[in-house]
Amino acid sequence: MKHGIILDLDGVICDTAHFHFLAWQRLAAEYDYNLTHADNEQLKGVSRADSLTFILGLANKTLSEEQFLSDLHRKNEWYLELVKDMGPKDVLPGVPTFFAEVAARKIPLALGSASKNANMVLTRVGLIHAFDAIVDASQVSQGKPHPETFLKAAELLNIAPENCWVFEDSAAGVQAALAGGMTAIGIGTAEDLPGAISHLRNLGEFDFNTFPM
Ligand code: BG6
Ligand code: MG
Repeated sequence: MKHGIILDLDGVICDTAHFHFLAWQRLAAEYDYNLTHADNEQLKGVSRADSLTFILGLANKTLSEEQFLSDLHRKNEWYLELVKDMGPKDVLPGVPTFFAEVAARKIPLALGSASKNANMVLTRVGLIHAFDAIVDASQVSQGKPHPETFLKAAELLNIAPENCWVFEDSAAGVQAALAGGMTAIGIGTAEDLPGAISHLRNLGEFDFNTFPM
């Protein structure tokens, strides 16, 4: 039975999870709220609008619809400024080895990202052509922890969900993978990512001998 791999982007392929955090922290400061790393664990994998709703809840603040959209836009402008100089060297440790193994073993590979910037970031780091399928926030109506992103990726790969292994750094993403009937590998700690079958510091630690071929 053919198996496939679905990768999250931010925090799995490159350190853009940190840039999202910095941009959200800057916005939260305007609401007089100090966004912590612990808060950020809840934000990882969550769509842009859902993230802002979550932060407004933490800050106990409400915005008009117009201000909400304007703040989403400003956050994204700050994020784009932070990623503008990224290039192929800015992938996380182990990423080149991981992609080389996937190619050598001819493992079907998809991206399943909650980001609307996914194509741009993948292009910058030079990995856009490494994927057989790409699913980003523009192609789904329900973000993580809903499984739609990963189910769509599995469908595009033409691989049954139960034969897909999802690599995720977010709790929302691990939940989405499990809700889709997939196997989840956590990039992070067991404490932050319950439900994943194993926990790695980065993709380079993955043992391909454990992957069913
Ligand atoms: C996810 C990140 O991949 O994408 C989140 O983990 C981010 O932190 C979300 O908020 C949406 O990204 P974007 O680029 O569409 O604002
Ligand atoms: Mg992520």
